[in-house]
Amino acid sequence: LQTLPPAQLAHKYFELFPDQKDPLWQNPCDDKRHRDIWPKEKTCDRLPRFLVIGPQKTGTTALYLFLVMHPSILSNSPSPKTFEEVQFFNRNNYHRGIDWYMDFFPVPSNATTDLLFEKSASYFHSEEAPKRAASLVPKAKLITILIDPSDRAYSWYQHQRSHEDPAALRFSFYEVISAGPRAPPELRALQKRCLVPGWYASHIERWLLYFPPLQLLIIDGQQLRTDPATVMDDVQKFLGVSRHYNYSEALTFDSHKGLWCQLLEEGKTKCLGKSKGRKYPPMGPDSRAFLSSYYRDHNVELAKLLHRLGQPLPAWLRQELQKAR
Ligand code: A3P
Repeated sequence: LQTLPPAQLAHKYFELFPDQKDPLWQNPCDDKRHRDIWPKEKTCDRLPRFLVIGPQKTGTTALYLFLVMHPSILSNSPSPKTFEEVQFFNRNNYHRGIDWYMDFFPVPSNATTDLLFEKSASYFHSEEAPKRAASLVPKAKLITILIDPSDRAYSWYQHQRSHEDPAALRFSFYEVISAGPRAPPELRALQKRCLVPGWYASHIERWLLYFPPLQLLIIDGQQLRTDPATVMDDVQKFLGVSRHYNYSEALTFDSHKGLWCQLLEEGKTKCLGKSKGRKYPPMGPDSRAFLSSYYRDHNVELAKLLHRLGQPLPAWLRQELQKAR
């Protein structure tokens, strides 16, 4: 019996099975063979029980703030590199492996009742994230928030401007959304990043290839903004948390900020920073009309999908469908 030295053998192996070059991590405790070689001092409890998958600019940080107020809900520690989000399943961080990922999470004091979670808003539109997440945390619940994709695109553009993205500073919102195939590459790239996350139905369908519908909660972002306590009750029911937390007492409307915030002692409030709930001029009517038409088919597909899932249609979607008639 002959074999090659390890490095050459690996080379040969991946020549024969090129599709296995890309790893797909599984929970080491789910397979006896893996469990047997998994160090005793390690635990498999440092993995999220649910994921807030985005998309960006729909209120994901507000939801994050509200979730961590709950005594049984624990988040990961922030990542210094990626604006506090771990972004494991969507990016190259995935290749750092599960030890790297688990290190972001605390060891839960009670693995049954404590719910660990992670919010990375760009998981939503990622091609890879659903498959990878389903492989490592197949039982995880998923939460997504939807607002009118046109408003989402506009908020995202404003966000890029305030982060001084050169293309966003150079081109108007209308130029970004309406750029044609001959537009400069940086404008086309910005356009794609701005518009593609709003193809809600396609992205949700991709998650549903890997997760059963009962593991997915779709939140109406408008309701999260105006009536977060009711949304948080639904979230608690969906997550099956052991202790009910009363958000109507814990949240307060901050009239200065114009948004709901955490109520602290002595009537003080903790709101999100300046980067959330930004002040910017309303979207121009040309952009609004362009996007309404751009997202029409996607919104029709979303309505069909929500109908199939037995979920109510958010108000913005009903309005958009009326326009489409
Ligand atoms: P704008 O800053 O464009 O108004 P995300 O955290 O996913 O990036 O979303 C940011 C958006 O969350 C904000 O967009 C804001 O409209 C919305 N939002 C909803 N409820 C909020 C709250 N209670 N505090 C701050 N922002 C909230």
